[in-house]
Amino acid sequence: MANENTVFEIESASYELFGGIAKVAISNPPINAISASVRRTILAALAKAEADNAALVLLYCQGNTYIAGADISEFGKPQAYPELPDVIAAIENSTIPVLVAMHGNALGGGLEIAMAGHYRAALTGTKLGLPEVNLGILPGSGGTQRLPRLVGAEKALSMILSGKPISTQDAKDSGLIDAVIEGEWPGAAIDYAGKLLASGPSPRRTGELSVANANAEIFAKAREKQSNSGNRLLAPNYIIDLVELASQSDIALGQQQERERFLECRASRGSQSLRHLFFAERTAAKPKGIDSDVKPRSIENVAVIGAGTMGGGIAMCFATAGYKVTLVELSEENLQRGLSTIGKNYQKGVDRGISSQSKADAALSRITGTTQMEDVASADLVVEATFESMEVKHSVFAKLDAHCKPGCIMATNTSYLDINEMAAATSRPQDVIGAHFFSPAHIMKLLEVVRADKTAPDAVKTLMQVAKRIGKTPVTVGVCYGFVGNRMLQKYARQAQLLLVEGATPKQIDSAIKEWGMAMGPLSVADLAGLDISYFSRRNQGIEVGSLPECSVPDELVDEKRLGRKTGAGFYQYDPDSGKQSEDPYVIEKIQAHAKKWGIPQRQISDEEIADRLILALVNEGAKILQEGIADRASDIDVVYVNGYGFPRWRGGPMFYAETYGLANAVARMRQFQEQTGDDFWQPAPLLCKAAESDAGTLEIGKIAD
Ligand code: 3HC
Repeated sequence: MANENTVFEIESASYELFGGIAKVAISNPPINAISASVRRTILAALAKAEADNAALVLLYCQGNTYIAGADISEFGKPQAYPELPDVIAAIENSTIPVLVAMHGNALGGGLEIAMAGHYRAALTGTKLGLPEVNLGILPGSGGTQRLPRLVGAEKALSMILSGKPISTQDAKDSGLIDAVIEGEWPGAAIDYAGKLLASGPSPRRTGELSVANANAEIFAKAREKQSNSGNRLLAPNYIIDLVELASQSDIALGQQQERERFLECRASRGSQSLRHLFFAERTAAKPKGIDSDVKPRSIENVAVIGAGTMGGGIAMCFATAGYKVTLVELSEENLQRGLSTIGKNYQKGVDRGISSQSKADAALSRITGTTQMEDVASADLVVEATFESMEVKHSVFAKLDAHCKPGCIMATNTSYLDINEMAAATSRPQDVIGAHFFSPAHIMKLLEVVRADKTAPDAVKTLMQVAKRIGKTPVTVGVCYGFVGNRMLQKYARQAQLLLVEGATPKQIDSAIKEWGMAMGPLSVADLAGLDISYFSRRNQGIEVGSLPECSVPDELVDEKRLGRKTGAGFYQYDPDSGKQSEDPYVIEKIQAHAKKWGIPQRQISDEEIADRLILALVNEGAKILQEGIADRASDIDVVYVNGYGFPRWRGGPMFYAETYGLANAVARMRQFQEQTGDDFWQPAPLLCKAAESDAGTLEIGKIAD
């Protein structure tokens, strides 16, 4: 017989015994992460249920989600007893049947707890998954051992390696949960528990099940896919080994090996980098100096000026997210060309399975083309994506000022130009802001939200929110030439050009930095973007053609109409049929001739020097940007680089990388480059020197001791 009904508060949960059911409602907002307190609480609740002689334990969560995982902020610190595997073991071994009821997100350690439970139910709409791989780790509390026992090896591999959550229906169909429940929370869970109790449940232990469809071919395929992926993290290969082990041994051995691998992954640089980015991306969404009580403006209608590559992509971002979009072009011909490209891009998404036909059609139908600037009058937000010239921008902003309704946010997609100057062309500079998208705009995640001197805080907050709704990762930055990303990129690209005249070949530079981890090398990127882009940018900055060692080669290539991929030749040559890239002896000779002209002796350059010169150039400029207050935080710069410039996530971004490289080492290496090249750029930024001298090991301004 169960004890009398009781109500009891345990650390991070409420406990209520009613009708034989011990209801344990965990509360650790915002996502009910498994902190040390939650772990203690679950053990205490199980002990209490046993002491109360309960017939069923119902474990669920208060708030708007079930447990979304272990508390990542505890990683890297000494773990307090009990650890999660102890809690998991206590649940699975409980002599009282345990029902875990989930709602919201059931992720990571949260799902591992559920899988150790004897019965599982989830509210319709719950997302269930093991996303640990996204943090460079693997499920460390039985996930690699219990998931295959419940859903089979193939599905378990797919879920754990992709990190993607599945729906409740999928979870029910695959055997991960027993029931999908509907109704109010937590009433639906309590009703289900009552029905389960009436059916006379007894403990069912997942660890005692065997693994279905575990044939050698599945694992061989997974290993092959992994080795072709270029992923350099430890976790994916370990996950494959562990799921295979689940099919071959008892759960005790599997769990022991899983824990060892988990701890190894958790301590790895790759995981530290990914965890840094997890928090960096969330922190970047909160710009400094904008109070939480600032109310964002309401945005329903958007206008995009310019239907070229950028304008079209930007229009797609908004239309896909459900906004009505007015696309404005000067001529009917350009407009039709732009609309046709948008249509083709949506179709490509359907053909590749990224979107359904109906969703693509609905998005396309939300875009209306016009050649009349007056049609921006109904827009709440305008993004101009016109030719990169201050004269053009001035004229566009003057027209927007004339036609936009009061309170409309007027944004520019400029990559480099001074937004304060554009704001000055209007009578409402508080509504002018930068919305710097990256090409292709409908795919790249980064959005630099540029606050000009007079931009109103609510305009910044609005654009940050809109960015989230259109699936972007926004970072606020200040005005300077190129903002954060492109300003740093110029220094990186400059080093690539200097390395060429000093003796490296385009291929050596590109291969060395790709090997280091960048998605593409700088010379391949230049050829892809078109060498004319940086050529015009240099002219905009007043640099004369061929006047510097770092630009005389690309300037001459442009003068010879070698503009990169689009003309079949640039730093490389491209096969006209296959587009295959190959080294061009003509370019190598040209580089040698320019080196001679500048009196720069050519030498053998190591891959290590190439990587250090390129990456430390980013670091030094990043430190200057930080010091000038153009970026709010070092971690914001990391978010910019991993989301917009192909910087490897597993290295955490350039500023985090500098911290792992060692700030004092970075300063010493820069001084060495300064001595070797005589280039004053290598004078380490004062902030970097100060950070290197302080013991904090970080570039975050608030944490560096004076
Ligand atoms: N640990 C610590 N804090 C976390 C956290 C976690 N696992 N997950 C989210 N948070 C924090 C965020 O930093 C944020 O804090 P802030 O408000 O101070 O910035 C707050 O919770 C809300 O998070 P989001 O802004 O991301 O809220 P959303 O509603 O957009 O998303 C979510 C919710 C889908 C749960 C998302 O936060 C998420 O994906 N979290 C990570 C889930 C995860 O990776 N779980 C596995 C953890 S590792 C693990 O369990 C190991 C185990 O195998 C042993």
